[in-house]
Amino acid sequence: MSKENSETLAVYEKFAQAYLDGSAIRDRKNPEHARKKREQLAEKIRDAFGNLPSGAKLLEIGSADGDNAKILESLGYNVIASDIAPAFITACEKRGLKTIKFNVLTDVFPTELSGIFCWRVFAHFTREDITLALTRVYDALLPGGRFVFNVFDRATHDRDSEMKDFPGDYEMGAKRYFAYYRKEEIMNMIMKTNFKLIKEWHEHGGHNDWHCFVLEK
Ligand SMILES: C[S@@+](CC[C@H](N)C(=O)[O-])C[C@H]1O[C@@H](n2cnc3c(N)ncnc32)[C@H](O)[C@@H]1O
Repeated sequence: MSKENSETLAVYEKFAQAYLDGSAIRDRKNPEHARKKREQLAEKIRDAFGNLPSGAKLLEIGSADGDNAKILESLGYNVIASDIAPAFITACEKRGLKTIKFNVLTDVFPTELSGIFCWRVFAHFTREDITLALTRVYDALLPGGRFVFNVFDRATHDRDSEMKDFPGDYEMGAKRYFAYYRKEEIMNMIMKTNFKLIKEWHEHGGHNDWHCFVLEK
């Protein structure tokens, strides 16, 4: 696990409440936009995990406020939410989610996983962290299991990485590590694993665009 990710996790642990408050404020300011975003994500998730039966066991890595885990649950999966920051774990538990403290780079995975969802988390990973995470996720999945994740697109921000906060929006009060990737770079990393690439797409984000991937074991 890199020094960069560990410093970023320390920021999340310390300022998780600011993150949760910011998400709630954004949702209240524009509920229609928030609803549409959730619907769009639900559609993508349904498609990404389309091969899995209802009730399949799924782990979400880095659940934060639990919004995505609730979407996964609403689609009929047996979901385990997870994060590192205690305030995030409490937030998920309060929403009735089964939740564990889990670091994808260091901790033992739950067993019998048919799917793993990791949204807007690899943005905080160095190249070495991503290689490690891909290997660990592959090993944790059942055969045929799927992994869905995304990374920041370097086309909108041409640099390897930076330490940054987002003043006014997604602001936490301290800088976190963000890495940026060209699609080819991630594809090369995927090709070095035993994963099969099922689907990839590009999407616009508020501050940066994303490359999104669905892999299968
Ligand atoms: C930008 S937030 C995204 C939250 C949520 N997935 C979403 O899409 O709204 C990044 C999350 O990644 C988590 N995270 C960062 N590094 C992690 C690691 N090594 N293992 C597990 N979670 C991690 C943070 O705690 C934080 O909840």
